[in-house]
Amino acid sequence: MWDLPVLPVLRQPRKLVIVTSGGDSPGMNAAIRAVVRSAIHRGIRVLGSDKGYTGLVEDDLQPMGTSSVGNILHRGGTVLKSDRCEDFKRPEVRAEAGRLLRQRGVDGLVVIGGDGSLTGAHLLAAETGIPVVGLPGTIDNDIYGTDDTIGFDTAVNTGLDAIDRIRDTAHSHERVFLVEVMGRSSGFIALAVGIAGGAESILLPDAPVDLPDLVERLNQSKKRGKNSSLIVVAEGHDPQLTQGLAAQLSEHGHQARACILGHIQRGGSPTGHDRVLATCLGASAVDHLCAGHSDVMLGVQQGRICAVPLHDVVSNRKALPVGIMELAQVLAH
Ligand code: ADP
Ligand code: F6P
Repeated sequence: MWDLPVLPVLRQPRKLVIVTSGGDSPGMNAAIRAVVRSAIHRGIRVLGSDKGYTGLVEDDLQPMGTSSVGNILHRGGTVLKSDRCEDFKRPEVRAEAGRLLRQRGVDGLVVIGGDGSLTGAHLLAAETGIPVVGLPGTIDNDIYGTDDTIGFDTAVNTGLDAIDRIRDTAHSHERVFLVEVMGRSSGFIALAVGIAGGAESILLPDAPVDLPDLVERLNQSKKRGKNSSLIVVAEGHDPQLTQGLAAQLSEHGHQARACILGHIQRGGSPTGHDRVLATCLGASAVDHLCAGHSDVMLGVQQGRICAVPLHDVVSNRKALPVGIMELAQVLAH
């Protein structure tokens, strides 16, 4: 549980816009609800941008009220919809979006999304001067400056549920299963799912796959009487990796199957953890805008909500925890 930092009210915005952008993540709705209700409680009007930055570019902003966010806390996805808006990467498009926002009297934005969305948020704040607060909304947990992101816990639990089911069939058929999880170029989901699911091996994008070593470890496992194994593979950069590995392991005498979990990890009802995290961050975003803060992302570090400059967030890479990676190796037998 995270407590909200108490901040002075130095600049009360009149009209806020909420944007959910990039890959959706379970808990985005909880964050939207918290922003809307906290803002209205302070007498601030709220608009929702339809489909991420597309809504800003096309001036498609809908008023949101207390009741419009009723019954969404437990729902996955985002009621505001999301989009990959390539146009927003162009400075002239962002300038026009800023002009439209000012014309409407918007003097605050809350952007919920992954590192791409937060890059757009930083540029919008820096170029237009409109106050922007970002929230880390992505299943990938690959955002610098925060220990956790909205949706990560749910995605890990979804992956884990799948792993537990696959173990049953792997055991019955004495097979090796390679289960590919999402995470783009980062391995946070793979590491968490692999540890919690007791995977015999976790293949992370940061290290190249050592096929002879993998085959040797599976051979040793077999000798010790273990006839089924589960390998968690981070999707990384190569879309063919998991299928290719299954084929190669089969050539080395292991009955191997590939299972790509895909977008199932992005959907579903958020866990209690993600609902509370999203709610605290959403409410705190309004507090930070009222305290006159801008161009920051709110995250959690060592159990506390903290504000991190968006510039730092988008120009640094979050590293995987080395100690846990080593532990995973020790436990995998
Ligand atoms: P995520 O936010 O989940 O990382 P993306 O990387 O696809 O997802 O980014 C989502 C959206 O954020 C993009 O479609 C675009 O609208 C905006 N965005 C991404 N990168 C930039 C950038 N360099 N400059 C401005 N906007 C960006
Ligand atoms: O960033 C979230 C994420 O789900 C990644 O884990 C994945 O690589 C990517 O988005 C998939 O994006 P799309 O839905 O556009 O295929």
